[in-house]
Amino acid sequence: MVLDLLGCFPHLLLLLGVWGPVNPLFALPNIITRAQWFKIQHLQPSPLPCNRAMSIVNKYTQHCKPENTFLHDSFENVTAICDLPRIICKNGRYNCHKSPRPINMTNCSLTTGNYPNCSYSNAALYKFFVVACDPPQPTDPPYHLVPVHLDKIV
Ligand SMILES: *[C@@H]1O[C@H](CO)[C@@H](O)[C@H](O)[C@H]1NC(C)=O
Ligand SMILES: *[C@@H]1O[C@H](CO)[C@@H](O)[C@H](O)[C@H]1NC(C)=O
Ligand SMILES: *[C@@H]1O[C@H](CO)[C@@H](O)[C@H](O)[C@H]1NC(C)=O
Ligand SMILES: *[C@@H]1O[C@H](CO)[C@@H](O)[C@H](O)[C@H]1NC(C)=O
Repeated sequence: MVLDLLGCFPHLLLLLGVWGPVNPLFALPNIITRAQWFKIQHLQPSPLPCNRAMSIVNKYTQHCKPENTFLHDSFENVTAICDLPRIICKNGRYNCHKSPRPINMTNCSLTTGNYPNCSYSNAALYKFFVVACDPPQPTDPPYHLVPVHLDKIV
């Protein structure tokens, strides 16, 4: 639950971190943008085994994230999907976009472990995906829209 929220609202947690109790969840670098966090969690142009890939993601939150999907595609290719027609996201916002074709991706599912020893199973998938896009922050690449959230695998 907290990790899901983190996936959607890393900035919210950063804000909470200003007055919240000291918590390893607030160890995200404070310059990270939602697009950068999307890239860290979901983009992997060349596949890596889940255990290695997830250790990078988990380092930011100091938790074993239970489920995560890596899209084997580039930031440029996924950003291009932000220019396709909008569809409604799971949260009701109208800023989602569906990939025009399926791509290779890997689902990582936590099997055992406590941070930092998190073990994952790997599942290769060839599916469509839906991303939410927003205008970039000043430190993001200067596209019109950038991906900020992986909404769905379909
Ligand atoms: C892959 O993981 C996503 C969550 O990241 C989940 O929504 C989807 O159902 C999973 N798909 C399969 C086939 O495991
Ligand atoms: C980006 O898209 C192009 C055209 O569909 C494809 O040939 C290329 O492999 C993609 N890049 C990656 C890293 O998947
Ligand atoms: C997707 O994965 C399959 C099976 O692992 C592989 O044969 C194929 O070349 C991959 N496609 C791309 C575009 O990377
Ligand atoms: C992680 O695993 C290693 C080797 O299996 C073990 O030595 C270490 O104590 C474990 N650490 C934690 C925090 O469980």
